[in-house]
Amino acid sequence: MTRTTESLTPELYDYLVAQGAPVDDVLADLVEETARLFPESKGMQIGPEQGTFTTLLTRMSGARDVVEIGTFTGYSSLCLARGLPDDGTLLALDVSEEWTSVARRYWERAKVADKITLRLGPALESLRALPEEPLFDLAFVDADKEGYVDYWEELVPRLRPGGIVLADNTLSHGRVVDASDTRAHVQGIRDFNARLVADDRVTQVLLPIGDGLTLARKN
Ligand SMILES: C[S@@+](CC[C@H](N)C(=O)[O-])C[C@H]1O[C@@H](n2cnc3c(N)ncnc32)[C@H](O)[C@@H]1O
Repeated sequence: MTRTTESLTPELYDYLVAQGAPVDDVLADLVEETARLFPESKGMQIGPEQGTFTTLLTRMSGARDVVEIGTFTGYSSLCLARGLPDDGTLLALDVSEEWTSVARRYWERAKVADKITLRLGPALESLRALPEEPLFDLAFVDADKEGYVDYWEELVPRLRPGGIVLADNTLSHGRVVDASDTRAHVQGIRDFNARLVADDRVTQVLLPIGDGLTLARKN
């Protein structure tokens, strides 16, 4: 039995990405424009292999109603929306008008804008304002790491049975196992990971894709 996951050199990572579906012009332009407009925000977008995984998972799970926490300039929301059926919906939550104004343009260009509702404001408030009933088939979490545990507690009751949560950055660039790193965003991820392990409402796996992508299914 294999007891480890392969470490990826930059060369192996490039090879891995090249074996997946190619990034189309819309996503490539979005990456380029985001880097040009917001160079200080390097590394915020999910990677190409995570994007394709997200589209596939959305489509394969038959998800119709999706919520995203942390939209930025729209890469992950585009990938989610592309996995939705014609009558699918995506509720996108973020605090930044500036960043999401880029997302809006790309949603239009990709012809998925009619599926997406953007709600600006702290995501925890936006979630708490929703009815506490099963509304979503899939949730994607990629905002402030200190908030992950609170997002989790608001999301699980709002997921349909069999619903899925995807959470990004759950390896915190390897810092989750460095006990000397007590910064709030790292501890937020540790707390989130531990909460899921203790939560018998779900079955979860932490996948070593990108910076760690946790996939959880509501039982
Ligand atoms: C890592 S980026 C998201 C990247 C995005 N998923 C993508 O693939 O392009 C994190 C986003 O979370 C948003 N954010 C941070 N704190 C937030 C909060 N309390 N409520 C809502 N959004 C928040 C930021 O404005 C930022 O756009």
